[in-house]
Amino acid sequence: RILVLDFGSQTTQLIARRIRELHVYSEIRPCTIGLEEIKAFSPKGIVLSGGPASVYDQEAPRVERALFDLGVPVLGICYGMQLMTYLLGGQVERSLKREYGPANLKVLDNSDLFHGLSLERPYRVWMSHGDRIEKMPPGFVCLAESENSPVAAMKDKTGRLFGVQFHPEVAHTEIGKDILANFVFKICGCQPTWTMASFIEEAVARISQTVGPEEKVICALSGGVDSSVTALLVHRAVGERLVCIFVNNGLLRKGEAETVLDFFRHSHLNVRYVDASDLFLSRLAGVTDPEEKRRIIGHTFIEVFEAEAQKIGEVKYLAQGTLYPDIIESVSFRGPSATIKSHHNVGGLPERMKLKLIEPLKELFKDEVRELGQELGMPYELIWRQPFPGPGLAIRIIGEVTRDRLAILREADAIVTEEMKASGWYYKVWQSFAVLLPIRTVGVMGDERTYEHVVALRVVDSLDAMTADWTRLPYDLLARLSGRIINEVQGVNRVVFDISSKPPATIEWE
Ligand code: XMP
Repeated sequence: RILVLDFGSQTTQLIARRIRELHVYSEIRPCTIGLEEIKAFSPKGIVLSGGPASVYDQEAPRVERALFDLGVPVLGICYGMQLMTYLLGGQVERSLKREYGPANLKVLDNSDLFHGLSLERPYRVWMSHGDRIEKMPPGFVCLAESENSPVAAMKDKTGRLFGVQFHPEVAHTEIGKDILANFVFKICGCQPTWTMASFIEEAVARISQTVGPEEKVICALSGGVDSSVTALLVHRAVGERLVCIFVNNGLLRKGEAETVLDFFRHSHLNVRYVDASDLFLSRLAGVTDPEEKRRIIGHTFIEVFEAEAQKIGEVKYLAQGTLYPDIIESVSFRGPSATIKSHHNVGGLPERMKLKLIEPLKELFKDEVRELGQELGMPYELIWRQPFPGPGLAIRIIGEVTRDRLAILREADAIVTEEMKASGWYYKVWQSFAVLLPIRTVGVMGDERTYEHVVALRVVDSLDAMTADWTRLPYDLLARLSGRIINEVQGVNRVVFDISSKPPATIEWE
């Protein structure tokens, strides 16, 4: 397996992922872990990621020089290459011209890292750096050059240490995959044997080893793919000693609780269902501020979950569907980011209940988790369900959340889902949903004047929810959505379509 040390680059996650796509397991760790931990990982190769720092910065993240003497092949990417140069006695300079975007790479030596590539033609690669290598460390040779980087790639004389100035992990580097494949197969000697099935086997074995024969694990099920896959994995390892708690907060979509419960009962999971709708709704009465809503829902959830967990008796572990993107903020060197919205999760529970965490998915990305779900036999609809926020419909009802407004939104939302599925658009977009606005507008139905609610449609395309754009849905589908909602949902006489991108808007309205 390959260890990726993170120096805070935006694309570190892609490195691990590209390597796993080659069927070689790889994990990311912060660059601050010590040599002992690195040795304990026993990697067949190490990749040093890029990062925003300059090696001469006071605070620049470093690794111990001895890393290069472990006898393990190392590939430094961008900042990783500069750090390698700096630590091994070469020279890094601020280049006068910063290089961002595409560059033409000329390969000078295609014996190992660039094996199979032509010396004749230039290749397009993606650069993003301010500093560059002025002088390679002693014993290094240059493997490739670009206009602004005379040393765009290098290796040492033992053929173990490599550096590339560009980013092989991004899609814009046309030969990125070849380079990473050469590194992991030719240089590190890995075999392409890693699959999701082997991931399941390893994860199950690890959980079985961690959890003692009498110990219990709890898990909060939301019906989303992350918590579901987590529960299925842990169940394979500990069986009945996993107790799942499914809290109905009264803010779920139409039929949601039933669908989720049905599936888990079929899978023989031990699920405790708690209907806490009344409690949630009574606490939300009169509340209109979005952050206040989120806070109340988060706290109430923890309270209900804790009370239910107490009934199970002594529990030692909490299984959580944390994914890699959820932890990336804490790994990287960017400062804490501003709270735009406080996302709802079971944060705070582990400390309060003195629970240890089991997070079997924390190295994975969403699409890998979906693949895992498939391998574990989850139905297509659950695997490919659109994301649904923890605070549920409460943040899609602008203003106060009441039973009447929930009923209206539930009906409108069900129509959106139905029509999106029927037209084949549901699985093509990131999210599609209805939002209930706190205003009424005038309409005319039959010969009567109406004065009723407005529903907004929000349909977006996105890769990771960090940025999003509104989906260009066909007019006839929009017409059908608006027609059905106005005709079938009592209390709505107008439908509008949200055409804002993120940023500056967000996906949800609250
Ligand atoms: P925003 O509105 O911030 O949403 O652009 C980005 C993505 O996150 C989802 N979302 C949440 N998910 N708990 C969650 O689990 C939350 O509190 C929460 N708020 C927003 C949102 O649906 C979108 O996919």
